Amino acid sequence: MFPQPLIPVVARGSEMGGSSVRRATVSARTRSRGRGGTVLLPSMLTFGVIVASSGLLLMIEKGILAEVKPPPLHPSRGELSWRNAGRARVASEQEDVGYQVLQDTRNRTIRTMCGQKNMPHSVWDLSASQRRTALKHILVSDKHRFLYCYVPKVACSNWKRILKVLDGVLENVDVKLKMDHKRDLVFLSDMKPDEIRYRLKHYFKFIFVRDPMERLLSAYRNKFGEIKEYQLKYGVEIVKRYRKNPGKTTGDDVTFSEFLQYLLDEEVERMNEHWMPIYNLCQPCAIRYDFIGSYERLNEDASYVLERVQAPSYIRFPERQSWYKPVTPQTLHYYLCNTPRGLIKELLPKYILDFSLFAYPLPNVTSEFCRQ
Ligand SMILES: *[C@@H]1O[C@H](CO)[C@@H](O)[C@H](O)[C@H]1NC(C)=O
Ligand SMILES: *[C@@H]1O[C@H](CO)[C@@H](O)[C@H](O)[C@H]1NC(C)=O
Repeated sequence: MFPQPLIPVVARGSEMGGSSVRRATVSARTRSRGRGGTVLLPSMLTFGVIVASSGLLLMIEKGILAEVKPPPLHPSRGELSWRNAGRARVASEQEDVGYQVLQDTRNRTIRTMCGQKNMPHSVWDLSASQRRTALKHILVSDKHRFLYCYVPKVACSNWKRILKVLDGVLENVDVKLKMDHKRDLVFLSDMKPDEIRYRLKHYFKFIFVRDPMERLLSAYRNKFGEIKEYQLKYGVEIVKRYRKNPGKTTGDDVTFSEFLQYLLDEEVERMNEHWMPIYNLCQPCAIRYDFIGSYERLNEDASYVLERVQAPSYIRFPERQSWYKPVTPQTLHYYLCNTPRGLIKELLPKYILDFSLFAYPLPNVTSEFCRQ
């Protein structure tokens, strides 16, 4: 068995920033689960996650992010060596076990970190502005008794479509119409405290999460590459602030590095929702979500949720839109490796709760990786 490992506990998001990341260690038991020959795998993975998290803390303290090696966690990235080890059936069974372990790890990390005294334990512990942000992001279905905290850039339009179909205001999920992100939707922030309390207590609550760097890149490419309002509202300002000789700009040529510099200077709680950390949007400590789905397993996890909330069987999670440009591992590699390493390192503390609570490995920006 492994020795008692340590899980890092990080101070609440709003206080984060290099030096104020507080350290406390809590021992946690590694548990092995799984059937027969797969017992070893889960415990190794679990151990790996914990080592990664501790590494994370160490990295923040010492400022040596690039040197620590968090193990790969997401089977979908095809990096787990056991994937190549056997026949397809075995591999997919192990993948399921691996995913179970991931869920379990998330669950326990959240419980451990959120169990700390200075963390919010209910929405009423939050500051008024934190509460407003979270409640504004929680969509309500009274008919199916669930709450969904939407995270922009994690398939949230598709979930909004589903809510509209469930409510009968939209005929089917595949309509080509542009999504209206407010109309015909009910948010928890529209309700009175008693109504909020009741729903938080009795409804099924879920969120979908995504690799934090991938989410930022997706936001960057979408907003600055395609959306005029964002180019004018944010792009122009970013170029003015962070480019040596800005010249004339229409805000459509912001570089990824300039965008990250901007994030570095932004106060987390005032960020635009497309790049605000998931932690601040959905407050997973104040709200005990029953299920955390992964963007990496969108279809399976969405099917699970739809079944769980007893959606009619004809409702399927929408296919990706044809215009959708996914962030591939190659794209991420390209952007990360063309960004000053120090900048990424400096930015990570702002998003550390998203990495650690949801068990995502830190971006690999070592020179070996970038040489590939
Ligand atoms: C980063 O990638 C390189 C090359 O693929 C690999 O050798 C190294 O172990 C990785 N490091 C981390 C921290 O994952
Ligand atoms: C965590 O585990 C508990 C107990 O097994 C379960 O009820 C809960 O839904 C899990 N939460 C998540 C987010 O998986």
